[in-house]
Amino acid sequence: MDLSQAKHAFITGGASGLGLGIADALARRGVAVTIADINEDSLKEVLATRGNQFRGVRLDTRDRENWQKAKAEAEAAFGPVDILVNNAGISPNGREFADMDPESFDRILAINLVGIVNGIFAFGADMRERGNGHIVNTSSQAGLTAGIPGVGAYSVAKFGVTSLSEGLRVEMEPHGVGVSVLCPGYVQTNLGANTVKIGGDIRQYTAAMPESDVTPADVGEMVAEGIEQNAAYILTHKDVWPGVEKRMNAIKAACDYRRNA
Ligand SMILES: NC(=O)c1ccc[n+]([C@@H]2O[C@H](COP(=O)([O-])OP(=O)(O)OC[C@H]3O[C@@H](n4cnc5c(N)ncnc54)[C@H](O)[C@@H]3O)[C@@H](O)[C@H]2O)c1
Repeated sequence: MDLSQAKHAFITGGASGLGLGIADALARRGVAVTIADINEDSLKEVLATRGNQFRGVRLDTRDRENWQKAKAEAEAAFGPVDILVNNAGISPNGREFADMDPESFDRILAINLVGIVNGIFAFGADMRERGNGHIVNTSSQAGLTAGIPGVGAYSVAKFGVTSLSEGLRVEMEPHGVGVSVLCPGYVQTNLGANTVKIGGDIRQYTAAMPESDVTPADVGEMVAEGIEQNAAYILTHKDVWPGVEKRMNAIKAACDYRRNA
């Protein structure tokens, strides 16, 4: 999508971290931004430091009725949404499957996967009818490779987001709507603290995180570039392929085995 033609972006989880980096990158290109977030304090804080090009709306992406309200409010102010960034998410909970608290598993799936599907339910048909627009869904490197103990529930949701995005891209392509899946590696944000604020569970998770030399602002620029190019996958880190290749090689070995059996 030619971003010079885009007028309005709606970004969930836009009041912090990667969502805010994306909001700033699009605003720098002249796009008006609705930042939608569950956290009213973060919304207030962000809006206090930004101009009229930004509006905030409180939205819990799990709440389908609230999506309709947020959409109506956003479009009344800035017109039809050209870019939907389905980004709100919470962190892994650090629990292995056998020890999983079902409530924690459900919360991760409800926010990190169903919250994104809800965004498509709210905006997808309108975009398809207008025949233009772009949707970015935030997955993760954990949506391309699995197998880190304690990250499993998160990975289930993020693989779902990757798969959703691949399918949606095929469905939307004939109608002129682009779809990208953002698969970030580790970037330092408030993900752990924000997860706890909404009642989430992050046992063991935060202690293990390495340093990151990629910032939310860098990710914002990568996403803007990815939208311009209608990239199917937007990766933020250079070290993703070995993990993906290992998984693909295992699948290929199974295919070869069956072919030769
Ligand atoms: N930071 C990383 O290393 C990393 C890596 C891969 C993927 N991601 C993904 O990037 C996305 C953004 O995470 P971040 O690191 O910027 O974290 P962050 O906590 O800084 O930002 C996430 C925002 O989403 C909001 N949010 C959470 N649940 C919500 C809900 N139900 N409805 C609306 N808003 C909600 C939070 O209030 C917060 O403002 C998430 O989907 C996360 O899984 C992050």
